[in-house]
Amino acid sequence: MQRRRRTWIGALLLGLVLTPASAGQRSGPDVERRIDDLISKMTLEEKLGQLQMLDGLAEGNERPEHADLIRKGLLGATLNIRGVERTNALQKIAVEQSRLKIPMLFAFDVIHGYRTIFPVPLGEAASWDPEAAERSAAIAADEASAVGLKWTFAPMVDIARDPRWGRIVEGAGEDTYLGSVFARARVRGFQGDDPAAPNRVVACAKHWVAYGAAEAGRDYNTTDVSERTLRDVYFPPFKATVDAGVGTFMSAFNDLNGVPASGNHWSLTEVLRNEWKFDGIVVSDYTSVEELINHGIAADGRDAARVALSAGVDMEMVSTNYNKYGAGLVKDGGLTMQQIDEAVRRILRIKFRLGLFDRPYADPAREATALLTPEHVAAAREIAARSFVLLKNDRSVLPLDKNVRSVAVVGPLADDAASAIGSWAGDGRPQDAVTPLAGIRAKIGEAKVTYVKGCDVEGDATDEIAKAVDAAKAADATVLVVGEAGGMTGEASSRASIDLPGRQLELAKAVVATGKPVAVVLMNGRPLTIEWLAGNAPALLETWFGGSQHGNAVADVLFGDVNPGGKLPVTFPRAVGQVPIYYNHLNTGRPSDPKNKYSSKYLDVAWTPLYPFGYGLSYTTFELSDLKLEAERIRTTDSVRASVEVRNSGSRAGDEVVQLYVRDLVASVSRPVKQLVGFKRVTLGPGESRRLDFTVAPEQLGFTGRDMKFVVEPGAFLLTAATSSDGGIEKRFEVVP
Ligand code: BGC
Repeated sequence: MQRRRRTWIGALLLGLVLTPASAGQRSGPDVERRIDDLISKMTLEEKLGQLQMLDGLAEGNERPEHADLIRKGLLGATLNIRGVERTNALQKIAVEQSRLKIPMLFAFDVIHGYRTIFPVPLGEAASWDPEAAERSAAIAADEASAVGLKWTFAPMVDIARDPRWGRIVEGAGEDTYLGSVFARARVRGFQGDDPAAPNRVVACAKHWVAYGAAEAGRDYNTTDVSERTLRDVYFPPFKATVDAGVGTFMSAFNDLNGVPASGNHWSLTEVLRNEWKFDGIVVSDYTSVEELINHGIAADGRDAARVALSAGVDMEMVSTNYNKYGAGLVKDGGLTMQQIDEAVRRILRIKFRLGLFDRPYADPAREATALLTPEHVAAAREIAARSFVLLKNDRSVLPLDKNVRSVAVVGPLADDAASAIGSWAGDGRPQDAVTPLAGIRAKIGEAKVTYVKGCDVEGDATDEIAKAVDAAKAADATVLVVGEAGGMTGEASSRASIDLPGRQLELAKAVVATGKPVAVVLMNGRPLTIEWLAGNAPALLETWFGGSQHGNAVADVLFGDVNPGGKLPVTFPRAVGQVPIYYNHLNTGRPSDPKNKYSSKYLDVAWTPLYPFGYGLSYTTFELSDLKLEAERIRTTDSVRASVEVRNSGSRAGDEVVQLYVRDLVASVSRPVKQLVGFKRVTLGPGESRRLDFTVAPEQLGFTGRDMKFVVEPGAFLLTAATSSDGGIEKRFEVVP
């Protein structure tokens, strides 16, 4: 009793120390009352000011008119303005010179690092290591907050099944479960336990919703997705961010089943607010309110403001229709004051939650010390190497021997620092980035390395190919670095062909024809169609765009200091005509059968992928055995408990990602042939085994039923433990009511 009491008193004291400055004053009834009070004092113009986000100028500068708008209470948030001197100066105007002293919110796209750049998100997802994603997001938040930012437009959690779509690079790939796990990790990394902490920022789940389903993979294009597929495939990563406490959402550019996402009352209000109880801000994407006119669901800017705000978009990014037409709309009944107040309330709520009313300024001392620290750089190197996927390694070409006498480094991306950091690289600088050439030189010494570019990434010049062949012939080993330039994925970077661009395949063919050991290092932000390389290059290492430390990580893996253990977060097709191709497809009535012409396949290309989702090799080998189920009959409300033995059967330490899939064999709705429900990345020494335990929650067995309600149906299921989405060991189990 004594002891318990002491503990209780201790907890109370601790609470007294922590509460006033933290959660106590930033949310709850008191804050809601302060918000009511502020709203009651605001003019309509000031309210509309809170709903406006404007863009800065290049290099993080503000526009000349911003200071005055802030002083008059007519601007609530900006994007792209950064640097503590600027943000603090503007903040000072807001909190000292504006009538109601409401602080500003400064946003920026901090997607895979602010100054220290981590792998592009698709690459980082290939690590199958959510802790790495949480760590890199936390570092990104640390650096971003040090330059006066308090809001990042990340994570992008759009499921993408079409590699033509350039923005596939910004998400976690094709899978709903992997995407949800990474979505949660990234929100936690950016926001921590408390986004008000000086080294954290508020995250933004984007792009709500189905933006990744753009028809034909063309950016900004139409999407038409059934409600069931939305609920079962596209929604869950967003729901995971809400469950993780994400503060903001961004409404997408695309139209969705005929109703643009930035004017879609169903997705923005009925699902997000009413079903999921999200109480944060929805910001439009860049001018997506105004674009409702192009979509043909608004006659003019006034109409666009009415449609977007009543659908549930609280803040208008860059276009200014709320501001221009809000007062008129309230006057003539197009919008109610209550609707405006509700949007203002959500914005003020986040400003309180971020502690901006108490602590509006960023600490200038931190800006000088927080960026690109040795710890951040070391983390970038480690995480980059964890994201690499070994696709092929015939005759153990890799790892290369560090005592090799000479290495030819060939290819247009081998020394391309801008590409190493990829697109959406925050304020990352090419001059801080290590290219594969620089990394290899640092690893084995300059004298051993010859470099020949060979050709350009795009373009037709071939005159250096002969020189590259000579270099390969003269060297003990060749590292050929090919792929896409960093800017070939990202926004507005869709491609109709996903082959190696330019003359790179010609270069590869010539170099491989030398018969010397050639390791191909791929740099790209999307799956590429690389059937020739897969068939003919001795070794293939997928390295994405690895960030500031890309080249050092490449050298670590090529020379065996790190054993690669990443797995593909997305299917690699053989030909672009197979797209969309993804592992968790339905079985169809005529599943592909090579012996039956009238089955679902192609005449000219195999129906299977080149590399399946979840695939990746190691310098060692692993075996799975003895899949066990705790119970072979469970109820619809029970979890599945399973375990499997994994053994490193090779002679080096290495990582394996053990994956668990389920299939609902018979249901009222056709279910995918396989669905990822769990995974673990483990490191095992040579000969070492470990039994891994998995718990699959009952919800993971369910789906959206015929009545559009979530259901876990009794029946037979198949559980597979595997090292990729192809193959594995299986066990059946039964779900009973
Ligand atoms: C993109 C968003 C981004 C916004 C602000 C838009 O063009 O679609 O992802 O956050 O710009 O930069």
